[in-house]
Amino acid sequence: MKNVEFKKFNTYYDKYGKLSPIEGEDTIPFAIKRVYYIYEVEENVRRGFHSHKNLEQALICVHGSVKILLKTPEEEQIITLDNPSEGLYIGPDIWREMYDFQDSAVLLVLASEHYNIDDYIRGYDEYEKYYKEKFKKKEK
Ligand code: TYD
Repeated sequence: MKNVEFKKFNTYYDKYGKLSPIEGEDTIPFAIKRVYYIYEVEENVRRGFHSHKNLEQALICVHGSVKILLKTPEEEQIITLDNPSEGLYIGPDIWREMYDFQDSAVLLVLASEHYNIDDYIRGYDEYEKYYKEKFKKKEK
């Protein structure tokens, strides 16, 4: 779907284990300004429920597994992240929900901007309104 890309990272491995490097503006399309990680999430918890106006992110499940629901008024996709050598790029204007955190999942998030509460759109109705308004204008 648009503004979303699932990516396999180059991974180096030998008898000592595996290593997956990620370089900003190379492996992922943006310079990394912020890193956070979500962990110790109970299996029945669902979180996210927002979209971003400008923020770009890359999600990597560095341990365990987690499902990501991605949604726009036109498309919907569910991606399972369960491999530290894979990442999910999510650009602006995509609604996301994260759920089914399994096996002590640790979800690492790389972000293109510092934390900015004004970049969030929370509530699906508000998101849908914002999206339709934004893309209606662009079509003209
Ligand atoms: P929240 O946005 O609710 O997480 P999720 O999108 O996974 O549901 O964030 C939880 C709390 O963490 C909230 O109080 C805001 C804070 N927070 C920061 O201070 N900095 C950050 O970079 C992020 C992502 C969250």
